[in-house]
Amino acid sequence: MAEKSEVMLEVKNLTKYFFANSGLFGGSQAIVKAVDNVSFRINRGETLGLVGESGCGKTTAGRTIIRLYEPTAGSIFFEGEDITRKKMKPIRKRMQMIFQDPYASLNPRMTVSDIVGEPLDIHGLAKGNERRERIFQLLSMVGLSREQANRYPHEFSGGQRQRIGIARALAVQPELIICDEPISALDVSIQAQIVNMLEDLQKELGLTYLFIAHDLSMVKHISDNVGVMYLGKLIELAGRDELYERPLHPYTKALLSAVPVADPKVSRSKSRIILEGDVPSPINPPSGCRFRTRCAYAMPKCAEIEPELKEVAPGHLCACHLEE
Ligand SMILES: Nc1ncnc2c1ncn2[C@@H]1O[C@H](COP(=O)(O)OP(=O)(O)O)[C@@H](O)[C@H]1O
Ligand code: SF4
Ligand SMILES: [Mg+2]
Repeated sequence: MAEKSEVMLEVKNLTKYFFANSGLFGGSQAIVKAVDNVSFRINRGETLGLVGESGCGKTTAGRTIIRLYEPTAGSIFFEGEDITRKKMKPIRKRMQMIFQDPYASLNPRMTVSDIVGEPLDIHGLAKGNERRERIFQLLSMVGLSREQANRYPHEFSGGQRQRIGIARALAVQPELIICDEPISALDVSIQAQIVNMLEDLQKELGLTYLFIAHDLSMVKHISDNVGVMYLGKLIELAGRDELYERPLHPYTKALLSAVPVADPKVSRSKSRIILEGDVPSPINPPSGCRFRTRCAYAMPKCAEIEPELKEVAPGHLCACHLEE
């Protein structure tokens, strides 16, 4: 058997624009630059955490990678194969997505058994007794019992519903799972349980994750590498420890200073950087560096020249004129 490629997912210059009809400009089209020229790789069995404030393009990136949206430009490689324009059905068997709101993504009129069994039917993976046993096995993998199989989503708690969503994603035995804020809607006490379960499943099944969150504290534990997005751009990317210990981009520093620190001594000595102003619109992003309207270090050059994402230390990429 040929050796499996080490890089599981690679996106190159991934771009997704939405063309929205805007009444403002006499019916002309406004271009929403939701994801703009984003590149990264994820190795097999590893997790890339993707972080940034709401609206920066994380969900759009995830949905474009799994081809729920057609990319505007750029390419997506899966195990070395260019899947940018390939048929979706075979891709879905290898790549799955779990969502922030498990309730909205589960059909309220279907039993858990039918929800988890549906992908088995779509892909013709199991029938009859085998199908039933497989469903029970999937439920047990996510900590649910076979007695729960005939119940409906509304009978479960938020954490349990997320478990159902994960069982459904696992049904096709995917290699990569895009986890789109899977814990953001859950109680803090439940968040760790779900993350720990995802980590255990990753080890057991050799899964690769793209783990999306709006907050750096949520991805710290699970990620091997972390990427930070701002207004459709990837602005910093590094190994997990490197990023948390030596953040370089002013935006990453601001995000990190907002993360609560358990040790009060550290907390007091750490100055908080407050992000001022709102995130600008991706319809008309600032010229040059998109972060410049909120950056305390902005200089004239920042309005004129867009900083490129460059390797500034081994394995540490940053897009800021201060690091050039
Ligand atoms: N289907 C769509 N049509 C038009 N604009 C969209 C659509 N989906 C998302 N957007 C816009 O794209 C930007 C990025 O959104 P999204 O990817 O959902 O961000 P995030 O997941 O980081 O919160 C936002 O400005 C959002 O309003
Ligand atoms: S390029 Fe300029 S505006 Fe952008 S983050 Fe760096 S210093 Fe701030
Ligand atoms: Mg989102």
